[in-house]
Amino acid sequence: TTISPFANEPFVDFKLEENRQAMEAAIAKAKASLNAEYPLRIGAEKIFTEDKIKSVNPGNLDEVVGYVSKANRELAEKAMNVALETFETWKKVPAAERAGYLFKAAKLMRDRKHEFSATMILESGKNYAEADADTAEAIDFLEFYGREMLRLSNINETMPLTKVAGEDNKLRYIPLGVGIVIPPWNFPLAICVGMTAAAIVSGNTVLLKPASTTPVIAHKFVELMEEVGLPPGVINYIPGSGAEVGDYLTGHPKTRFVSFTGSKEVGLHISRLAAETAPGQIWIKRLVAEMGGKDGIVVDETADLDAAAQAIVASAFGFQGQKCSAGSRAFIVESVYDAVVEKVATLTKQLEIGLPELNYAAGPVIDQSSYRKILDYIEIGKEEGRLIAGGSKADGNGYYIQPTVFADVDGKARIMQEEIFGPVLAIGKAKDWREAIALYNDTEFGLTGSFFSKEEARIEEALETMHCGNLYVNRKCTGALVGAHPFGGFNMSGTDSKAGGHDYLLLFTQAKAVSVKE
Ligand code: NAD
Ligand code: ALA
Repeated sequence: TTISPFANEPFVDFKLEENRQAMEAAIAKAKASLNAEYPLRIGAEKIFTEDKIKSVNPGNLDEVVGYVSKANRELAEKAMNVALETFETWKKVPAAERAGYLFKAAKLMRDRKHEFSATMILESGKNYAEADADTAEAIDFLEFYGREMLRLSNINETMPLTKVAGEDNKLRYIPLGVGIVIPPWNFPLAICVGMTAAAIVSGNTVLLKPASTTPVIAHKFVELMEEVGLPPGVINYIPGSGAEVGDYLTGHPKTRFVSFTGSKEVGLHISRLAAETAPGQIWIKRLVAEMGGKDGIVVDETADLDAAAQAIVASAFGFQGQKCSAGSRAFIVESVYDAVVEKVATLTKQLEIGLPELNYAAGPVIDQSSYRKILDYIEIGKEEGRLIAGGSKADGNGYYIQPTVFADVDGKARIMQEEIFGPVLAIGKAKDWREAIALYNDTEFGLTGSFFSKEEARIEEALETMHCGNLYVNRKCTGALVGAHPFGGFNMSGTDSKAGGHDYLLLFTQAKAVSVKE
């Protein structure tokens, strides 16, 4: 069968009544599964444990999205053994067949997209558009990495090695072994699916340790893979404590690679641990670590100021600023500073706060520890800048915080330098566009950025000098699309793995050059 070229999954338009109703129906259906219990999945076994993770709706703390069984070291060891055993057969499954499971899963997920989005609305506090974009990205990853595996398995036809007389030379991309996949909660479907799908389509088997605040949506994905007939043991689902299960598996001698997306602190911890060699270990563990951001938008005096203000607000407050790509900083040139600041304040105050299932623009943050941390940063902000919007918690039976903007913030201020991961924007003034870029670059991170200007020469220079993995011009700095904007950051933002790009599967394979004398 021929495979159509990759195309991004379109977003649903929730302004249309029928689409809104379809989502409401999906939410009602998802609510029927509140309080359900979920097992671990090790090979074909479904294991219910005594100890459970309680996954709560951050927008309505009375709702428990699910009770999810929790692995300990013993169960992690059992899962490792199953994954090792399964690797011996899975690695021999032809690439096209492996890709076929991803294509089937993409189709089923597309057919039931609101079901997946609804679970995220309840479990992570996304509104309709944010949840829909997350599901669309998950579908994209399945479709894209399936095609990428086919491309890699066909590499000798499309990019032949140099011909040497009397030899047949080929490159084979073979899998690595057992990988530990550790996704974050903020794209609880897309990133979980992307990281897992890339690893398994490359021929590896994995232990998937979902984020502890969003294990139910991860379970829904694992269930889907079972439904499409993926052999048991290829994905083993083992929710559990990062410190207990995570450290044990990162340090395990049989772990061949760790694929992590999350905070800088945890990423660096895993990097240290993975660098050690356990007795019996015969390889250097491969580590893919995508970490935090302190991203921002630069606006010069020639820019379309309304478009810039809209982009600043969308980038800062989409999903409550809980994106690695969130534009939590903006640097604006002096002559248009007051005008842009005022526009940003006005737009921010228009964001209505409320329940995700009722599709409010601003919802809750993920959990109590985030809530406290963000409110602490808001207090720090009150010392470091001029509060022009928000500034406190908001009403509701959940972790609601007002979208908050501080102006006149120094480039070295803590709220300009530290990742807050919540609805807090810091704005700084620059004397000119070059100084604004210098302020933008003054960070240990380097994930996303935007430059707003109408001057071609400045745009050219900004493309050169703004140091980040994903740089945009005259648009927001969130919303990378699979295939179009391969995603990953510089410096403390991680290993720049470029998820959703043509280089990604190379991270989960090793190239074997075979030369046969003719
Ligand atoms: P986190 O670092 O707290 O957790 C990430 C994952 O690591 C979770 O599954 C967690 O349970 C697990 N974990 C924690 N301790 C561990 C340990 N010792 N060993 C193994 N695993 C462990 O991050 P988070 O709060 O889930 O996500 C938010 C962070 O992720 C932000 O910093 C954000 O910028 C970043 N992020 C980055 C990208 C990117 O592509 N660069 C994308 C999304 C999120
Ligand atoms: N891929 C996500 C974005 O670009 C993180 O917003």
